[in-house]
Amino acid sequence: RLAQLTDSYSRKMDYLRISVTDRCNFRCQYCMPEDIVFKDKSEILSLEEMLTFAEAALMLGVTKVRVTGGEPLVRRGVVKFVSWLKDLGFEEVTMTSNGFLLEENLEGLVEAGLDRINISLDTLQPEKFRFITRRNHFEKVWRSIMAALETPLSPVKINAVAMRGVNDDEIVEMARLTQRYPLHVRFIELMPLNGDTDGSRFRSLFISGKEILSRAQAELGDLMPVEKDDPAAPADEFTFEGAPGNFGVITPVSEPFCARCSRLRLTADGKIHPCLLTDLDIPVKHAIRSEDPINEIHRVLWETARVKPAAGQTLPEEARNRTMSQIGG
Ligand code: GTP
Ligand code: 5AD
Ligand code: SF4
Repeated sequence: RLAQLTDSYSRKMDYLRISVTDRCNFRCQYCMPEDIVFKDKSEILSLEEMLTFAEAALMLGVTKVRVTGGEPLVRRGVVKFVSWLKDLGFEEVTMTSNGFLLEENLEGLVEAGLDRINISLDTLQPEKFRFITRRNHFEKVWRSIMAALETPLSPVKINAVAMRGVNDDEIVEMARLTQRYPLHVRFIELMPLNGDTDGSRFRSLFISGKEILSRAQAELGDLMPVEKDDPAAPADEFTFEGAPGNFGVITPVSEPFCARCSRLRLTADGKIHPCLLTDLDIPVKHAIRSEDPINEIHRVLWETARVKPAAGQTLPEEARNRTMSQIGG
C-alpha cells in the first residue's frame, strides 16, 4: 500500500474533480462570455487517459471523484466513464451538471453507479434563467431535477450562484423548495472569475452567505444546523422544521474553506489545478502519455502536493481572467 497523498500543510488530498470537457451548452454570465473559444479537441485528454490519471490517484488514497466540466454531459462517453470510475473502486463518484441533458441520461448514470448529482439552478423564473445562462432552457432543466428525484440519486443538491439584484429576490422561494422536495439548495457566494479583472462586477453583485441565511430565516423561521457527513464539504447546511430538504450556503469568499481543502482538479487538457483560487497549474499530460504512466503520474501528484498553497490568494489578475468552465468549479 502506498502512502496517502498529503500536502505540505498536512491536508489529506482525497478528492479529485475531473473536468471532462471545457465545453458547455450554456453561457452563464458569471462563468464564461458568450463568444468563448473552447480548446481545440486535439488538446483534450481522452477518457481513457483521464481514467489512467484517476487510477494513479486512487492508489495514493484519493477516494472520491467528481465529474465536472464545462458541462460533463456534452462529452460523448461520459456515462461509460462514470462506470469505469466505479469499477476502479472509488468510494464515491459524483457529478456536477447544468441539468440540460440530464433527463435522458438519468437511467444510464444510475446504472453506471453514479452516487450523487449536483445541478446548477440560479432561478425559478424562465425569463431570468434565460438572462443568466443566455439560453432559454429552464423547463428542460426543471424536468431533469424532478426526474432525478424519482431515482436513487435523490436527494439532489442544487447550486445557485447568489447575485444581488438578479436572484436575491428568490432566496425565500428557493428555500421553500426544500420544504416540498428532498432538495439541498445551496446559494454560492459569487467569485470574481470570468474576466472580472477589476472586480467591478463582483462588487455590484456580491451578496454574502450570512445575509442569505438571515433573509431566509426572517421569512421562514428557524434554520436548524445539519451536521456535515464530510467535514471537508464546503456547504453550511440547515433545515426547516419538518422539511424533506436542506437549505444552505457555500462561502468561498467570506469564509474560505482552504484550511480543510482536500481537493485536486484535473483539467480537460491535462493539467492539475491544486487550488481554485490561484493560477497555479501543473502539467500532467506528458506523464499520462509516458512509458510508465502510473509512476510518472505519482511523481507529478507528489509535486502537486508539495506546491499546493495554504490558501487561495485574493485572486491575482490572471486567475480572474480564467473561466470557471476551464477549471471545473
Ligand atoms: P458536495 O461535496 O456535494 O457539497 O459538492 P461540492 O460543493 O464540492 O461540489 P460542487 O461542484 O457542487 O461545488 C459547489 C461550488 O462550491 C463550486 O461550484 C464552487 O463555486 C465552490 N467550490 C467548490 N470547490 C471549491 C474550492 O476548492 N475552492 C473554492 N473557493 N470554492 C469551491
Ligand atoms: N462564482 C461562484 N460559483 C460559480 N460557478 C460558476 N462560476 C461561478 C462563480 N463565478 C458554479 C456554478 C456551478 C459550479 C460548477 O460552479 O454554479 O454550480
Ligand atoms: Fe456551463 Fe456551468 Fe459555466 Fe453555466 S456555470 S456556463 S452551466 S459550465
